[in-house]
Amino acid sequence: MKLFVVHGPNLNLLGEREPSVYGTLTLAELNAHIAAHGRAAGVDLRFYQSNHEGRLLDRLQGARRWAAGVVINPGAYGHTSYALRDCIAGIRIPTVEVHLSNVEEREPFRRTSTIADVCIAKISGRGKQSYTDGIDLLVERLRAGVPAG
Ligand code: DQA
Repeated sequence: MKLFVVHGPNLNLLGEREPSVYGTLTLAELNAHIAAHGRAAGVDLRFYQSNHEGRLLDRLQGARRWAAGVVINPGAYGHTSYALRDCIAGIRIPTVEVHLSNVEEREPFRRTSTIADVCIAKISGRGKQSYTDGIDLLVERLRAGVPAG
């Protein structure tokens, strides 16, 4: 089973960016942690990060050819982007929205998700475990045969 782990804008700055909110792990360290979890779960993970909305859409569209599921931390695009929402709806790959911080308990704009209605779940506030919980949920649903979209 191949899953795509996607990080949106500013997540390349993890480790130096607002560590009191996002923790001190770098993106490389976070990906290594997620990769180890994926290996233990017997799934094949690919990773991508971009600060560019269009590049994220291009890679997600390309994932139609190979990915069984997507775990995405959309960063702030998850609060603003209808293009990202339409992309996830269009590719029809089961997708879990994740956030490191608890977006429900921060500024009001972070409570809005443009993509939640096209994702199978939204997991936030668990730090790196948001991603690994997202993978576990996807694996469980895919093994149970969740319908796409
Ligand atoms: C984030 C939360 C978003 O509100 C913010 O814009 C981010 C990171 C998180 O992982 O907690 O860039 O997605």
